[in-house]
Amino acid sequence: MSVDMAVDVGELNLRGPVVAASGTFGYGTEVPLLERRALGAIVSKGIFLRPRIGNPPPRIVETPSGMLNAIGLQGPGVEALIRDYCPQWAAWDFPVLVNINGESAVEYGELAARLDGVPGVAGFEINVSCPNVEQGGMYFGNDPRAAAEVTAAVRRRTRLPIWVKLTPMVSDIAVIARACESAGADGLSAVNTFVGMSIDLHTYRPRLAFRTGGLSGPAIRPMAVHLAHQAARAVRIPVIGVGGIVSADDALEFLVAGCSAVQVGTATFADPRAIARVHDGIAAHLEARGLSSLAELPRYLPRD
Ligand SMILES: Cc1cc2nc3c(=O)[nH]c(=O)nc-3n(C[C@H](O)[C@H](O)[C@H](O)COP(=O)(O)O)c2cc1C
Repeated sequence: MSVDMAVDVGELNLRGPVVAASGTFGYGTEVPLLERRALGAIVSKGIFLRPRIGNPPPRIVETPSGMLNAIGLQGPGVEALIRDYCPQWAAWDFPVLVNINGESAVEYGELAARLDGVPGVAGFEINVSCPNVEQGGMYFGNDPRAAAEVTAAVRRRTRLPIWVKLTPMVSDIAVIARACESAGADGLSAVNTFVGMSIDLHTYRPRLAFRTGGLSGPAIRPMAVHLAHQAARAVRIPVIGVGGIVSADDALEFLVAGCSAVQVGTATFADPRAIARVHDGIAAHLEARGLSSLAELPRYLPRD
């Protein structure tokens, strides 16, 4: 029996539910993309209008069951993205969404306008949740009005699918989720990294030069499942679950908790075939339960 793994995330039809999370595959060309058949989509590393060098090193430290990163949204800027990467994406048989970042709602809107219609760009993931930059980033994701303003600014400039990447560092994610939905989001990615800190006992200083960083990996998974579930309960648009997925069972937890698709990030640093492993494991689970498609997976989603 072959299992139908296709999934519609809004108007975007994905051949499978597993998406490469932003920042963990660069722009899709820096690391070998193994077993592309299993890739539902890729979300690019975050991009700003202008080039950015990011934060000084050290920018990554290992922590129990996870890692802290403070890359600071290093990137080549939108013009280089269009020149160097989009033409390659246009030849791929899976969609690439661009993770967009700005210091104001206007900047987010301008980025969307510049990328709208460029071959290879299938949609946008609005990053309102990066903990590793001084301006922008989390500010927008913490405040429902600001999150809605950024979403609306992008919505006005494109008809392509828009996912909003939510921060976990909020007191009520449902409020932010509803604000983004009302402002025109097509989907929500839940969640970005948690803010964390690690101290070096040789130097008595933070291990990261930026002092704090974003915690990712299995350490955050139960919190991420809960937040994705809360977001899914609050809205009608699809939620893409992200945070600490290493195995198919981890991904299935997010899917049962109400997510339409999932993203895998940090796990690929330890296992470059993690996405294919998760994809194939979900298919094996469905088959073992006698289900012929992902759509038949039972969900636990009591509505608010
Ligand atoms: C090195 C690194 C860079 C990241 N860069 C971005 C980024 O540019 N934009 C973004 O929205 N999320 C970024 N993230 C967050 C991931 O996309 C993801 O939300 C988070 O790592 C949790 O998932 P995981 O535990 O599967 O890694 C980054 C994560 C890591 C580890």
